[in-house]
Amino acid sequence: VKPEPLKIMISGAPASGKGTQCEQITKKYGLVHIAAGDLLRAEVAAGTENGKQAKEHMEKGQLVPDEIVVMMVKERLLQPDSQESGWLLDGYPRSLSQAKALEDFGIQPDLFILLEVPEEILVERVVGRRLDPVTGKIYHLKYSPPETEEIAARLTQRFDDTEEKVKLRLRTHHQNVEAVLSRYEGVTVKVNGNVPKEEVFAQIDSILTGLIKQKKAASDLA
Ligand code: AP5
Repeated sequence: VKPEPLKIMISGAPASGKGTQCEQITKKYGLVHIAAGDLLRAEVAAGTENGKQAKEHMEKGQLVPDEIVVMMVKERLLQPDSQESGWLLDGYPRSLSQAKALEDFGIQPDLFILLEVPEEILVERVVGRRLDPVTGKIYHLKYSPPETEEIAARLTQRFDDTEEKVKLRLRTHHQNVEAVLSRYEGVTVKVNGNVPKEEVFAQIDSILTGLIKQKKAASDLA
């Protein structure tokens, strides 16, 4: 029997490195990366009614209402590519109600990764973050600078990446994180996110390798 594809959730405070690790994980494991924040920013950019509403909340560092987020993520999760290749859910669920909504649809992860980074580091990461609109790659002016002048010239900044706004985002994170964690106690791994990104990935990589072995052993028995 073919092993079931991986179903992974990754969470952590704003700028803890979720997007950066997701780039590495998808490259190696071929999972479909579903990032709630990216889906929302695409709605904002498209100027849809949902996008307009979402932006008001994102600018205040608050969670976008479930009516917008839950269906959006669920639809992406249930598409054939996610079902066939496995998925990597980034920044969802962020509240108890979102976790419960997934349970109601019968969606459970194999693993819930929590990236741990001390708060004083996060503000510097946010303020120095830049994005390449062409490749979607995440940079940091100090920790992960662009490779060429050409890339450097086209980098953009997110509208919610200011010191003031990240403090609001952090507060929202603290209000919700324990409740979300309580739903995934049995499958949670805490990863030290306060080391260079390659070292963070090495920790995650070894956890995922172990998980794949387990899944294969289980399917061989089936
Ligand atoms: P979202 O886009 O998910 O933002 P976030 O959670 O604040 O996380 P970030 O994207 O800021 O950071 P990250 O952890 O991906 O870090 P990154 O890898 O970029 O959400 C935005 C908003 O959308 C929310 O505020 C909310 O309003 C709304 N939203 C999203 N999901 C929602 C949901 N489920 N429900 C309701 N609303 C929702 O790294 C950050 C920087 O650090 C980069 O510059 C990077 O190069 C650098 N860096 C990364 N790793 C390292 C390292 N190891 N060492 C040094 N630097 C590093």
